Amino acid sequence: MTSRYYVTTPIYYVNGAPHIGHAYTSVAADIIARFHRLDGREVFFLTGTDEHGQKVEQAAAQAGQSTLEFVDGISRNFKDMADAMGISYDRFIRTTEARHKDAAQALWRQVAENDHIYLGAYEGWYALRDECFYSEDEITLLEDGTHIAPSGAPVTWVKEESYFFRLSAFQDQLLALYEAKPHFLGPAGRRKEIISFVKSGLRDLSISRTSFSWGIPVPGDPKHVMYVWFDALANYLSALGYPDMQSEGVRFWPANAHIVGKDIIRFHAVFWPAFLMAAGLDLPDAIFANGWWTIEGQKMSKSLGNVIDPRDLASEFGVDAVRFFMMREVPFGGDSDLSRKSLINRVNVELANGLGNLAQRTLTQINRHFDGKLPEWGETQKDDRDLLAQSSLLPDLLRQHVARFALTDGLEAVWKVVRACNAYIDHQAPWVLKKTDPARMGTVLRTLHEALRHIAIVLQPYMPGTMDKLLTQLGISQNARQLADLAQGDIEAELPAPQGLFPRFVEEGA
Ligand code: MSP
Repeated sequence: MTSRYYVTTPIYYVNGAPHIGHAYTSVAADIIARFHRLDGREVFFLTGTDEHGQKVEQAAAQAGQSTLEFVDGISRNFKDMADAMGISYDRFIRTTEARHKDAAQALWRQVAENDHIYLGAYEGWYALRDECFYSEDEITLLEDGTHIAPSGAPVTWVKEESYFFRLSAFQDQLLALYEAKPHFLGPAGRRKEIISFVKSGLRDLSISRTSFSWGIPVPGDPKHVMYVWFDALANYLSALGYPDMQSEGVRFWPANAHIVGKDIIRFHAVFWPAFLMAAGLDLPDAIFANGWWTIEGQKMSKSLGNVIDPRDLASEFGVDAVRFFMMREVPFGGDSDLSRKSLINRVNVELANGLGNLAQRTLTQINRHFDGKLPEWGETQKDDRDLLAQSSLLPDLLRQHVARFALTDGLEAVWKVVRACNAYIDHQAPWVLKKTDPARMGTVLRTLHEALRHIAIVLQPYMPGTMDKLLTQLGISQNARQLADLAQGDIEAELPAPQGLFPRFVEEGA
């Protein structure tokens, strides 16, 4: 039986166009999904759009469109971005789908039946921009008389009838969960923050609104719509076919990993497990938060005009170069900065000169001196065996790194082998062996070919398009590209003519 793996991205709000921050979480989740497929698992990879709430209603009104027309357009834009970035989702969910509404209502009913929801009244500081309430001690009064939340979002005093979720009842169970399963929440810094937040005391959570109508009606009391986060989090279940527990998809529950941005960790690590506990459902195995991107050292914002559409970067540098840079620049989990200079530098040094050049040198010599036929193994020497031993460790190293969401460490492990290969080729200088010892030349090139086969196979999740090209040039057929194929795997005897993989960039005026 093949094992299953279920990974999700957040579902994106449809009140603006997709930018590099959205693409980042999706690329990371995509690498995880692709890696588990490569390792022979049955994967379900979910992404989509979060389409309810007052903000969306207002953004549509501002754009002079009907709300539905507006969300259709932006959702399509997010889907297009996902496709352009090579996001291999199995399902793109929209919270305005009827199936999702039914599922969110079913989850509500299940929680209510277990007596974890009650009707009360809410008074408090509400930030529309963050779609959440803040406590008194989190609010700052500005000189102009406005009040703001720690996020900088303006807040207003709101009073309305509301349904409440008994979050306070789950404090001990949540702390026990973080304690019992340290890997439930990462990276470590976020885990600490959440534990201290929960320890400081949880208050019941307002989970319905009567002040607007663009949302999912509360079962049995349709003047209330669900708080967007109850609705949104339910997407992880509804996409699978919940509440039909017999459906094909539900066998993927519980999720293995929810990949989210650091700003929404509280919703995923506190509210979501509490909702699930209240409904009597299994909990996800892990929640991992990525950091935020700044652009050339500055916060990304519409007012600064520095918001970057990942599709523009991809059309300039190639989608795989952008995916590589995102994962390479800063250890996954930390904050990173997108600077044009460092992007160009990484692409030139590590992709063009590092891996690209290695493949080019190896394949050109095979093409030229062996007529494009894969050289036979001769007797191997210690240097060959060392390099082969190093590259054969890659699948297990990658398994370990990806299991910890250490996606940057995964790349570093591969680049260690790329650097070792480049040192080996310089040292062995196969081109000078042509006259003196052609058999030895064959063995050296065959060793490099074998190391490259390992490198290209494990890099597929990170750079699927380019590794497809490289594997074809290496003569590895489509059905011999799984991790399991590394142990043996067919290789074509005739290799096609090599072609460059990564162009080098020269900045104009540089
Ligand atoms: N709709 C909610 C998520 C609901 S999940 C059940 C939401 N949407 S969002 O569109 O505002 O953000 C989605 C993701 O994009 C978050 O994980 C957020 O961290 C990420 N990013 C938004 N701006 C970002 C950067 N500047 N950098 C990195 N990621 C950022 O929250």
